[in-house]
Amino acid sequence: MATDDPTGQVTDYDPFAPATLEDPHPSHQWLVEQCPVHFYEPMGFYTVSRHEQLVEVARDQTRFSAHFGQGPVDGNGGGMLDDPPGHTMFRRMVLSFFTPRRIEAQTPLIEALADELVDALEATGTRTAELHDDLACPLPVIIIARLLGVAEADRERFKTWSDAQVAAMGRADRSNRETQMQMYAYLQDGVTTRRQLLAAREPLPDDLISGLVVAASQAPREITDAEILGVLGQLLVGGNETTTSLITNCVWRLLEDRSLWEAAVADPSLVEVAVEESLRFDPPVLGLWRKAVCPVTWHGVTIPEGARVQMLYAAANRDPAVFDDPNSFRLDRDLADVRRMHVSFGSGVHFCLGASMARTEATVAVRTLVTRLPSLRLAGPTERIEPQFLWGRHRLPVSW
Ligand code: HEM
Repeated sequence: MATDDPTGQVTDYDPFAPATLEDPHPSHQWLVEQCPVHFYEPMGFYTVSRHEQLVEVARDQTRFSAHFGQGPVDGNGGGMLDDPPGHTMFRRMVLSFFTPRRIEAQTPLIEALADELVDALEATGTRTAELHDDLACPLPVIIIARLLGVAEADRERFKTWSDAQVAAMGRADRSNRETQMQMYAYLQDGVTTRRQLLAAREPLPDDLISGLVVAASQAPREITDAEILGVLGQLLVGGNETTTSLITNCVWRLLEDRSLWEAAVADPSLVEVAVEESLRFDPPVLGLWRKAVCPVTWHGVTIPEGARVQMLYAAANRDPAVFDDPNSFRLDRDLADVRRMHVSFGSGVHFCLGASMARTEATVAVRTLVTRLPSLRLAGPTERIEPQFLWGRHRLPVSW
């Protein structure tokens, strides 16, 4: 019997069962307690759910490889999503754009954008909004587009493309190819233009595409345009929907339990811990996969060589061995402890490059809401985003 048991009792983990899609946490809790190394027969992958093993999978490249992609079936890693040393080279090429200092310098811009988006909400005069569409979604897209150097006029197109890419990532069959091709053609134009400027010793625009082109020209081996585009694609997929989900998830949980929202309204400095707790409680990426390069035995189960292994971040974030009262969303947790222990940004060499950026964008967005729209409340049913391994609110109707 799967998680759709009408009695509501969880007796197995099926990530694609309707009840699990609706609310994955009960089945994650079952995994942590009853089945810390689980085999999902329909797709032939293993899942580790306890914090201790998850961190091992994430950190030990000698036993768990990222070379075959992050999905449930073997694919192509490449670029940053590969094992060292290839990974190290690509990561270094973009690292400087994501340092906490660089993100701090962008904070006034993020604040101004959040204010502008809330101005637009108020300007409709309806005192209602769709928080996903009107705030959580545009904010990270505009910020990443600015960072990449996408022209203002192209941002709407750019958003459609990055959505299509996330949708394609959730499926093994890789549909949506055409839309992706359009985006890559656009980014390719940007790379070609900058390569030409560089060759002509002309000044390059100060953006991430330029940064990558310059770094590629100084790399120890030739970096192809396809490789540069691959890295750009990884930034887009990694950065947009995930940050949107963090914003929607955080606002959703605060509004669901009004006392949490009111606490944040009374003391907006609590927003920082609310964002971190949201990351722990509702990770925007539920889990990602590696490939076992040798057999590994845990809890009496042997993961065979060649098997795909899911690191189920969402489950490890509620492992009672690590977090007290793991199934409660609490604002009285120690910020540094939660930040250090949750695994929503992964762990080890692949630790999320955009973590500072995502935290800053979400903190600014939620703080802007609690200060400018303190009477905010949910105005209808919410709805989850579609791809199984991602977790966020696609519909978040609110009023004030
Ligand atoms: C709340 C928002 C975000 C979440 C939950 C998230 C989650 C993650 C996770 C779990 C990983 C580890 C992947 C692995 O181990 O295979 C990762 C890596 C990565 N993330 Fe994020 N991410 C977020 C925001 C961002 C943003 C804003 C960016 C960039 C603009 C970004 C760019 C990346 C990149 C480039 C990697 C690969 C790093 C590497 O392999 O060295 N992410 N992210």
